[in-house]
Amino acid sequence: MKPSVLVTKRIYPEAIEILKGHAEVDYEATDEGLAPDALIERARGKQAIVSQLTDKLSADIIARLDASVRSISNVAVGYDNIDVPAATARGIVVTNTPGVLSDATADLAFALMLAAARRIVEADEFVHSGKWSRWTIDLMVGQDVHHRTLGIFGMGRIGQAMAKRAAGFSMRILYTGNRPVETDVPAEFVDKAALLRESDFISLHVPLNASTRHLIGEPELRAMKRTAVLVNTARGPVVDEAALARALKQNWIAAAGIDVFEQEPKVNADLLACRNAVLAPHMGSASIATRLRMSTMAAENAVEAMEGRRPPNALNPEAVAAWTKAAK
Ligand code: DGY
Repeated sequence: MKPSVLVTKRIYPEAIEILKGHAEVDYEATDEGLAPDALIERARGKQAIVSQLTDKLSADIIARLDASVRSISNVAVGYDNIDVPAATARGIVVTNTPGVLSDATADLAFALMLAAARRIVEADEFVHSGKWSRWTIDLMVGQDVHHRTLGIFGMGRIGQAMAKRAAGFSMRILYTGNRPVETDVPAEFVDKAALLRESDFISLHVPLNASTRHLIGEPELRAMKRTAVLVNTARGPVVDEAALARALKQNWIAAAGIDVFEQEPKVNADLLACRNAVLAPHMGSASIATRLRMSTMAAENAVEAMEGRRPPNALNPEAVAAWTKAAK
């Protein structure tokens, strides 16, 4: 009998085609997706779930999934929406889509940094609204990006891609994290205090977990240069949004480029009011080619799991070991 898979929300049709080649597909082809109870109900009898970052697969929901469910394939590199230890305990393998979105996400982080530093959004509004009447010596002057200092929190794949772009702009690159790593371009490993103190631009590339929640709050914002620009394309809760709004309003820092928010799609009203914040709707990986590849990669992970093999991007391969043991 063919295995079956639940796809919780609209994805690229190419991914559905891959799944159809191997399984019965129950496709919720909407952008609203499924509420938790509906997801649990629709997953009954299915071996796999293809989820997105808006599906909150908490320990409680995972505990209520049918015993038939063997895998959850998230169409994202981040997986803070899934309680992985709870999935492991149920013998459910969880997969993500690493690597394929690093460049697109770093491109957006760099674009936000440039936009905030060079006031591109403000300038665009100024011209579109017909307010431009003459060229003056300091019209729309902003900050240089080239030859300045970029501080990176989290020198993983996306952090490294950001560093490469910064090297092309002749920037000095600092980074912090648990330990120094090998980097493709020259970068100095420093502690958090030095990074906050010395960076002109700070870009966040850490996963969201208990140790990174509110990694940037009032003390960190106050420790930055008054000319600093903060960029967040990681996860909203890595930054205390209310503190960021105060920092931007009271000029503790100069500007921010923010793609992710604490309560998406809601944005803190005070932050919305800050014109020195360039805001984007969680679109770091949103290039056509990247989102397509993320979709097909998640489908390929689901197929591997449904056919009893270890998926290439298993986050908890020990769950696969548990099936093999059970089958013996
Ligand atoms: C991810 O993959 O985690 C991004 O946030 C969405 O592309």
